[in-house]
Amino acid sequence: MQDKVVVVIGATGGIGAALTRQLATSGASLVLAGRNSDRLETLASQLSIARATKILKVSVDITDRQQVEHLMKKTVAQFGQIDILVNTAGAGVLKQYNKIEPAELDAMLDLNLKGSFYTCQAAAEVMKERKSGHICNVVGILGKHAMAMGAAYCASKFGVVGFSKCMAEELKRFGIKFTLFYFGGVDTPFWDNISLKVDRAKMLKSETAASAIAFALSCPPEAVPMEINIQPESHLFF
Ligand SMILES: NC(=O)c1ccc[n+]([C@@H]2O[C@H](COP(=O)([O-])OP(=O)(O)OC[C@H]3O[C@@H](n4cnc5c(N)ncnc54)[C@H](OP(=O)(O)O)[C@@H]3O)[C@@H](O)[C@H]2O)c1
Repeated sequence: MQDKVVVVIGATGGIGAALTRQLATSGASLVLAGRNSDRLETLASQLSIARATKILKVSVDITDRQQVEHLMKKTVAQFGQIDILVNTAGAGVLKQYNKIEPAELDAMLDLNLKGSFYTCQAAAEVMKERKSGHICNVVGILGKHAMAMGAAYCASKFGVVGFSKCMAEELKRFGIKFTLFYFGGVDTPFWDNISLKVDRAKMLKSETAASAIAFALSCPPEAVPMEINIQPESHLFF
């Protein structure tokens, strides 16, 4: 990871922040992205107090394609390249299909599906020039398995799997690899606004999810960890 430039979208979230803590000692330059600039500031100061990591903070709403392009431009202006994109921004609406408001469906598709799409598109354009790159999309197990109350969320996450696999096919000749992560429940603020009854104590820890991402990033160039699926023991999907 020495001298790699890693863009983490959703860096202030549960999984994203845990990943940045793990990468802070790796020698990588970190681009911390999310909407809330105060939270980005707090995270950056926590990371740089302990270590001499090179950090760029960019406040960005990934539902806006122009802001996403600006993020990639700022990264290249600061660090000259993008080696790795980790998409950990996202949110959940878990409700019965006929209780989902149009605005909630739009929010799922705009953020989870279209926002991730824009970030992959924009990062890939930069990576293509150097014929090298790694895109990690944190999909979640509801990107490949159905669950009652998951209609809107699954619609967005199945879509991420679909476009990622197509982009991976198109981009492999440019040396760009994709890894998709299918985590089961992870105990993070993601669950704070979800009314579904869940036992957060039995979920995966955000550090566990982050370690899986760090593992994928540590694989040698010839190895492509295409999919990583980790479920909590209490809730297995096969
Ligand atoms: N937690 C789980 O059980 C679980 C399981 C499987 C998969 N996942 C997926 O993993 C990803 C990360 O989840 P998490 O649990 O870490 O969630 P989280 O703690 O709620 O973090 C979400 C992150 O996304 C950012 N974000 C939200 N909307 C954004 C926008 N429009 N533009 C840019 N950034 C935005 C948030 O920062 P700001 O609010 O400041 O923008 C925050 O940094 C999501 O895609 C989620 O679907 C989660």
